Amino acid sequence: MDAGSRWGILSNGEWAHRYRLSNDAGVEAQLSDYGATIVSIATPDRDGTPGEVTLGHSSLGGYLGSRAYFGCVVGRYANRIRDGMFTLDEVTHMVTRNHGRHHLHGGLRGFDKVFWNLEEASSSGASFSYLSRDGEEGYPGNLEARVTYTLNERSELRIVYEAKTDEATVVNLTNHTYFNLAGGGDVLGHVLSLDADSYTPADADLLPIGVVAPVEGTPLDFREPKRVGRGMGSAHPQMRVAGGYDHNYVLNGSGFRRVAKLAEPVCGRSLEVYTTQPGLQLYTGNFLDGSDIGRDGVPYLKHGGLCLETQHYPDSPNHPEYPSTALRPGEAYNQETVFRFTVE
Ligand code: BGC
Repeated sequence: MDAGSRWGILSNGEWAHRYRLSNDAGVEAQLSDYGATIVSIATPDRDGTPGEVTLGHSSLGGYLGSRAYFGCVVGRYANRIRDGMFTLDEVTHMVTRNHGRHHLHGGLRGFDKVFWNLEEASSSGASFSYLSRDGEEGYPGNLEARVTYTLNERSELRIVYEAKTDEATVVNLTNHTYFNLAGGGDVLGHVLSLDADSYTPADADLLPIGVVAPVEGTPLDFREPKRVGRGMGSAHPQMRVAGGYDHNYVLNGSGFRRVAKLAEPVCGRSLEVYTTQPGLQLYTGNFLDGSDIGRDGVPYLKHGGLCLETQHYPDSPNHPEYPSTALRPGEAYNQETVFRFTVE
């Protein structure tokens, strides 16, 4: 990693920095201590020409004003909590209702909108920490979170998430990078496969209705590689809820395993996703409406990028039947996701 350069200043006088990781295969990732954000990833295409594969802003100002969560770490709880309320160890907690009557992505000032401390930096990685205080956005307990990014010569960008708490709380951390392997246009022609036999159907507010349903026979089935746009126009009720995909997949298997592959047939770039997490939210940028202006002054439009958010299921604190997101004193939160960039 390079020594980091000043990137932009906040109204309180604090500087945000930008750091660069690169490998001999021509992959370059840029990170910031603001939101522990992936600000850019450039990878070579089939002809060896490097190009941007994520959505994002060129300046810090773009990130400050955006609600799109480009590239950042989302927390303390990524995704939705119904009515901004949950009961843990017989205590009911209210968290910020920043999404209608629900809680989304950690609240008004989630982990994406705070500064992280650069803890360690080496030629191939960087580690950021953030202390989320007891009561922040309504969450109980002081949570010490740490996110470590490394890039290796196999072009694997590894993200390790760690946390500990001094009081029982809930934690669900993810990274919210929007990928567009062609570097522009929409992602409807990208080819996706997901190792998931089932998903959690959502209600009109995109919260799980509480059942786990098979993907078989629905447009949500990505068990075989399929164009992202293929099922988009389907009359299936789940496709009308979100104007595209905004669904949590129940990933097959457990432990660290490959769960997804995204490929763009024209430029030849592809991305494999490995994770320890039980779920993955496929979000196809349905709410991008041109109000976020990208790096080259190009407005980001609907389906201009897609997120593969490895995480626990939405609203888990209210679903005891889902894998638990509770973290208690003395326990260690530890999750890992790898984005591996290849060409074919
Ligand atoms: C959610 C979307 C939300 C988006 C915000 C995604 O993770 O699933 O519903 O609109 O984040 O950019």
